[in-house]
Amino acid sequence: MMHESLKKVRVSDRRAFIDARLNRTFTKMQLSARSIRASRTAQSAAHQGLCPPTVARSRPHRLPPVQASTAVVEAPVLQQAADTTLQHLPLILEQLQQDEQPCQLLPGNFFDEFQLGETLGQGSYGTVRACTHVPSGKQYAVKILSKRKGNEERSEIIMREVRLWAQLSQHASIAQLFGAYEDANNIFLVQELLTGGDLQGLLDSQGTLCEADAAAALRGVLSALAACHAADVCYGDVKPANFMLASMWPSIAHVLDPAKPKGDMRLRAVDFGCAQFCPDGCSLVQGLSGTPVYMAPEVITDHCHSISMDVWAAGVMLYQMLTGQFPFWDTDMAGLGRIHPRQILKDVQSGTVLLDVAACANLSADARDLIAKMLVKDPEQRITAAQALQHPWLQQQQQQ
Ligand SMILES: Nc1ncnc2c1ncn2[C@@H]1O[C@H](COP(=O)(O)OP(=O)(O)OP(=O)(O)O)[C@@H](O)[C@H]1O
Ligand SMILES: [Mg+2]
Repeated sequence: MMHESLKKVRVSDRRAFIDARLNRTFTKMQLSARSIRASRTAQSAAHQGLCPPTVARSRPHRLPPVQASTAVVEAPVLQQAADTTLQHLPLILEQLQQDEQPCQLLPGNFFDEFQLGETLGQGSYGTVRACTHVPSGKQYAVKILSKRKGNEERSEIIMREVRLWAQLSQHASIAQLFGAYEDANNIFLVQELLTGGDLQGLLDSQGTLCEADAAAALRGVLSALAACHAADVCYGDVKPANFMLASMWPSIAHVLDPAKPKGDMRLRAVDFGCAQFCPDGCSLVQGLSGTPVYMAPEVITDHCHSISMDVWAAGVMLYQMLTGQFPFWDTDMAGLGRIHPRQILKDVQSGTVLLDVAACANLSADARDLIAKMLVKDPEQRITAAQALQHPWLQQQQQQ
């Protein structure tokens, strides 16, 4: 199935970003997960009471990010690595390993050891495919990033993704990065295979999540962000397509018999392509970075990147999960695709968060309160990821 999405663009070509469109293919895995969910929608609604899934969508939309061309600051532990070229990627990972960092080096040529499988996802910057490590028979996912698409800047961005991800990849809410390979044309980032599809796929199939399920999802997102922020890393591209379900959710047992539990929702962050090291509050970056609908006002106005931009984006996600709409536009993802991206950026800067529209009518007071605290325009006044995890709405939903 093909669907329309805004085209990825280098930040150096903002006009192209603003005007572009492209079609992309959904993964087989997402399609099968979606068709299972769609087929059980009516059945499940009757059994769920407070938590019914909504009607499946047939034309999902995805929103790609733009990446800042250069990081202003690099993580000090990796400063030396930042000066090397991609030719030294294995050495960099070895160095990380010696420093007891979580990323493991898998030496050799990628194709000597791995066999490629089905395509799992097509991002703006890379194709993600399943792969088998032939000697062990273990399954992984590999993100294949073309070196040919760009110049030295592109290599720097990939290096930044590897370094920041490697530092954080041991956290339970972050996908594990196992290693990286390079050949003349591509970089291969070998990571854990996450088989439940991404959160955007779940929203495409269900439309909205009930408060308990949205709280479980937000908990995973915030816990990944809190880990990044504790390491002064700004994740930079919080959106549902970058959070994967570690396994099928709801469980197959629930799909077959809605009286059975849905199981735990275990989300993991992938894609550190827009991550930045932001140790001193706001880092000024060249151009825009992130995905416009989820961009915080200070990013658009001042190109200021700080960890609080992630909390803003998670607030937009929370609004999306609970209402199927977006905070400044009384419309769903399909409607949003018809608004000019330049207008989207203006609305984020000057608009008021819509909490009085019909889509929000049934939200609990605590859910509204958390949305409002995450979507405070002044980044200094915005709730932090760690504070949000303690918010009564998340605490109550966990106890129920
Ligand atoms: N470890 C994984 N296991 C299974 N599927 C994955 C994994 N990592 C990514 N995917 C799928 O591939 C898609 C693209 O991956 P990723 O976000 O890393 O690429 P990208 O080019 O940086 O994306 P974009 O820039 O458009 O956000 C994800 O949205 C997800 O559906
Ligand atoms: Mg992505």
